[in-house]
Amino acid sequence: MPHRPHRRGEPAAAGAERGAAAPSPRAIEERDSVLHSWCVPAEWDAPTIVGGRGARLITADGREILDFSSLAECSNLGHQHPAVVRAIRAQAERLCFVTSAWGAAPRAALARALLERSGFHGGRVFFTLGGADANEHAVKFARQARGLPRGLVVTRERSYHGASYACMAWSGDARVAAASDPAAHGSVKVPPPYAYRCPFGTNDEAECGRRAAAAVAEALDRHGPAQVAAVLMEPDAGSNGIVPPDSYWPALRAATRARGVYLIADEVMSAFGRCGEWFAWQRHGEAGRPDLMTLAKGLTGAHLPLGAVVLSAKVAGRLEHAMLHTGLTYCGHPLACAAGLAALDAYADEGLIERARRLGGQMYTMLQDLRRRMPCVGEVRGGRGLFAVLELVRDRATRAPLAPWPQTPAALRTLVARGLAAGVSFAVRGNLVLLAPPLVIGEHELADALALLERLLRECVADEVREEAR
Ligand SMILES: Cc1ncc(COP(=O)(O)O)c(C=O)c1O
Repeated sequence: MPHRPHRRGEPAAAGAERGAAAPSPRAIEERDSVLHSWCVPAEWDAPTIVGGRGARLITADGREILDFSSLAECSNLGHQHPAVVRAIRAQAERLCFVTSAWGAAPRAALARALLERSGFHGGRVFFTLGGADANEHAVKFARQARGLPRGLVVTRERSYHGASYACMAWSGDARVAAASDPAAHGSVKVPPPYAYRCPFGTNDEAECGRRAAAAVAEALDRHGPAQVAAVLMEPDAGSNGIVPPDSYWPALRAATRARGVYLIADEVMSAFGRCGEWFAWQRHGEAGRPDLMTLAKGLTGAHLPLGAVVLSAKVAGRLEHAMLHTGLTYCGHPLACAAGLAALDAYADEGLIERARRLGGQMYTMLQDLRRRMPCVGEVRGGRGLFAVLELVRDRATRAPLAPWPQTPAALRTLVARGLAAGVSFAVRGNLVLLAPPLVIGEHELADALALLERLLRECVADEVREEAR
């Protein structure tokens, strides 16, 4: 059935058309008053959530939804983690806010904990409110430390670093390209390590990773390393669905180090167990250590907004006696830092990073089995932690995509709507299904959701592709 944009005052009909439960009165109010992210306002049709527990969310009409994307790949600890909620409450009773120009105990403790966990001994942490402002500040600090106030920033095509204007310019995101100004933000783009459709024309995954790293080295040499402040890249999975081959990040690190250019790891999505490590670069040991890294999302398990830039001792040392002309009213907010500290303890005390690695491996194996049964699944990527991507194709032999990137095919929109109606929330982007459940998800919940996904793929995608082929 074609999707009919709902009209104001007709919410129940629009919900019913997609098989979803009728929205609650509060959801209707929100539809008329709020501008939501990444949507056409007139078509917004999402459930209203009133509570949560573990990997499940509770809707205003009393239904439970199993969250298979950690909302925006951020609720790594599940919803309403009791220890994090307790820590927020305790901090609220003590002190809600102090200006970021003064000291605050939870901020100091969280900075120390992050430096320790990441092994950035002697480094420093700058706190932000989320991922985009963390990336902007990482670039600011890299430029200042290099003495290049407008130094170039090398990033990848098909990447995402946030929705501020500078981050739009650095991202390789076709959806916002017309509205962004890469030249104004010193942006230089290189091809991604996308082995399934390797831009360098090789079918060898490791070779594709090496060639993509070599392309960064070539870009640095072409523009002159003395003009480039930083290379800003995601070390592992990102929302664009590219999972770099293992050969990529260490080669990139070596190329940037050899040229004296800072490497910034955008770990906004990939950290805190999502890719099986505290920080995804740690998969490569010291050979993967960046000069700066940015964090957000899982830093508080999304219980409160918080981002961070972690600077190595070398970069921090260059700023030690410089004036920093930057700041945010709420950076290092005590409530958010208290949540971050409790979140770090929860990851450690509950062994969640190891759990993500183990369950991520199981999920990957189950998805490979699913792929064998479903020709519309071109490739399964990820599985290092609780993150995996299914890339859907019309034809596995030719790898013809289900729709041209970054268009999301109608079949996948239907899959999401039917998943929600069946009680599981899946995330899709373009031709991709992104699987990123909270690290606390139960093994049975995981298996049941994948069984549902297979049924939905068969109903929504495989049948449609077969129909068209006729
Ligand atoms: C890799 C990456 N970097 C940066 C961001 C931007 O973070 P925020 O939305 O908190 O600004 C995101 C958000 O999805 C992300 O996935």
